[in-house]
Amino acid sequence: MKVIETIPEARRQIETSARPRVLVATMGAFHRGHVELFRRAREAAGSDGEVIASIFVNPLQFEPGSDFEKYPRPEGADEELCRQAGVDTIFRPTSAEMYAPNRSVFVDETALSTVLCGRSRPGHFRGVCTVVTKLFHVLNPNAAVFGEKDFQQLAIIRRMVRDLDFQIEIIGVPTVREDDGLACSSRNQYLNAAERNQAPALRAALLVGRDAVQAGERSTERVVESVRRRVETASLARIDYLAAVDADDLQARDTIEQNALIALAVFFGQTRLIDNIRLP
Ligand code: PAF
Repeated sequence: MKVIETIPEARRQIETSARPRVLVATMGAFHRGHVELFRRAREAAGSDGEVIASIFVNPLQFEPGSDFEKYPRPEGADEELCRQAGVDTIFRPTSAEMYAPNRSVFVDETALSTVLCGRSRPGHFRGVCTVVTKLFHVLNPNAAVFGEKDFQQLAIIRRMVRDLDFQIEIIGVPTVREDDGLACSSRNQYLNAAERNQAPALRAALLVGRDAVQAGERSTERVVESVRRRVETASLARIDYLAAVDADDLQARDTIEQNALIALAVFFGQTRLIDNIRLP
């Protein structure tokens, strides 16, 4: 496994290789969800292809005062996990390598990123789109793999690839969960014992919503209300947003139609967790 830290080095490696490349863009702090992304990347690349993991805690996508400084960076453990997961190349640039001090060009998605997480985290998706665009340019992959837990990010990246004509297949990978239903996330390690104990309420609440729709409920308001009530049984939970939206345009509808999903973001203490569920 190669570890590359500069853009010229990454370019050299790519120029000298005709193997199909699949990118897993990450911020490190790996968990079982990432292992599944690497597994899916290998499947897409084939045994002759190259799986590249980028590891970069992207300052541009953290709002002021958020957890950029304390975001976990366990370099050695991440490297070991990549080795075990059969990753061929790690691209691990520094901030100085990725961003000129006087940078002035950004990539902005202007519709899907105005709702849900985009509303709570202004500038977040601009940071994501900018860094993913740079990774696509530098690493020039045939395909890239992203988790469905961040379904809004996935929808925005698909839109960006379509609108900017990137010739890259975007592959979504279902959310990996702990045994109690909590979606795997690098931020779960911020939770204290009491918060961790209550956090599975998010998945339980989403299942309440799905069951209501399965039982024939079509009113968005009533479905969302049933989810809210279940989340609020967790005394430490503070809802940031909770919405049932169309999975393509992320807009709310009065009634639950085909292709809908429920998405939520909930704080436990300072830790903000997100999750979602597709509706039948
Ligand atoms: O999902 C993430 O880990 C990040 O948002 C990404 C896609 C690596 C961009 O920094």
